[in-house]
Amino acid sequence: MTKPVPRAGLLKIDPYVPGKSATLSVTADGARVYKLSANETPLGPSPRAVEAVRDLAPHMAAYPDGSSRLLREAIGERYRLDPARIIAGAGSDQILELLALAYVGPGDEGVYSQYGFLEYKIVILAAGGTPKVAPETRYTANVDALLKAVTEKTKMVFLANPNNPTGTYLPAKEIERLADALPPHVILVLDAAYAEYVLADDYEAGIAFATTRGNVVMTRTFSKIYGLAGLRLGWGYGPAHVIETLDRIRSPFNISSVASAAGVAALQDRAHIDAAVAHNAKWLPWLAAEIDALGLEVLPSVGNFLAIRFPDEAGRRAADADKFLTQRGLVLRAIGAYDMPQFLRLTVGPQEANERVVAALADFLQNVHV
Ligand SMILES: Cc1ncc(COP(=O)(O)O)c(C=O)c1O
Repeated sequence: MTKPVPRAGLLKIDPYVPGKSATLSVTADGARVYKLSANETPLGPSPRAVEAVRDLAPHMAAYPDGSSRLLREAIGERYRLDPARIIAGAGSDQILELLALAYVGPGDEGVYSQYGFLEYKIVILAAGGTPKVAPETRYTANVDALLKAVTEKTKMVFLANPNNPTGTYLPAKEIERLADALPPHVILVLDAAYAEYVLADDYEAGIAFATTRGNVVMTRTFSKIYGLAGLRLGWGYGPAHVIETLDRIRSPFNISSVASAAGVAALQDRAHIDAAVAHNAKWLPWLAAEIDALGLEVLPSVGNFLAIRFPDEAGRRAADADKFLTQRGLVLRAIGAYDMPQFLRLTVGPQEANERVVAALADFLQNVHV
């Protein structure tokens, strides 16, 4: 051996490639560039969160409270949960990582669905486990397929509900069927990163299941509707024994003082969140209908984004559209890494961005771009 070698399996991990950033703020024609590739909120953070960060800035020499008590209490109050059963993470990604690290070791399997959020595969492999993929039906997770993928080696099932990048979801009844049928030693992780956007009556983010069952954990984030993605803040809620385990292995100061304070302030600004929900409720269906009217298939989404399928024709493919839209200052997300190369994912943006996307797609489809 000539150099240090990482643990077995780690080199099988394809690094996560985030959505493209907008490299310029205006195009060559002077049009504003919109980044619609990372499901960030067009409303930005709550002004109260911005103020909280400013107020804390002079105090950044001090370590944060390692237990994130005030944040957990604020989350507990907002969602009516026991703060002792909440763990804060540097993004919900960190909670997913801790879960895999704690429960999925070498020889164990972690299950997720075919077009499920890519981070699941990464954290399972990083923990030394083996990923197992359950097929989906019409780009929607399938409970029977997930259950079929479970073996005696399975330690964890990850389900994004709604899922990124498809935007599809499973109703509470289906989640209940999944939770009921899983062996009690298998943890069901309900990743509800987009829960606040979902308006469907039959949806449940996971609170009911994580409250009553010994093997269900829900993860949530401040990165999406709360507009704090840059601060890295998320949380998990689950049975006390799981949260206590995660607490043992997290780094002692995993949440910065500014992130914590911004989270508390953001939770208190209900009007800001209501405005973000209303904006999405208006523009998500508008975009879906307009894009559908152009003749492009749009997957039914309950999140703040849409997966758009492009024709398999030279000059009209998703990659051609990506190039065309980027030149027009509209940066979408290519999702070939999800094995969906014929799709682009579009985040609901501000009004001007949404209108420009529809107009640009109409122009794109007028001509063949080779
Ligand atoms: C389904 C899903 N889960 C989790 C995350 C991770 O978000 P964060 O680590 O910013 O909380 C994302 C972000 O894209 C996501 O789409």
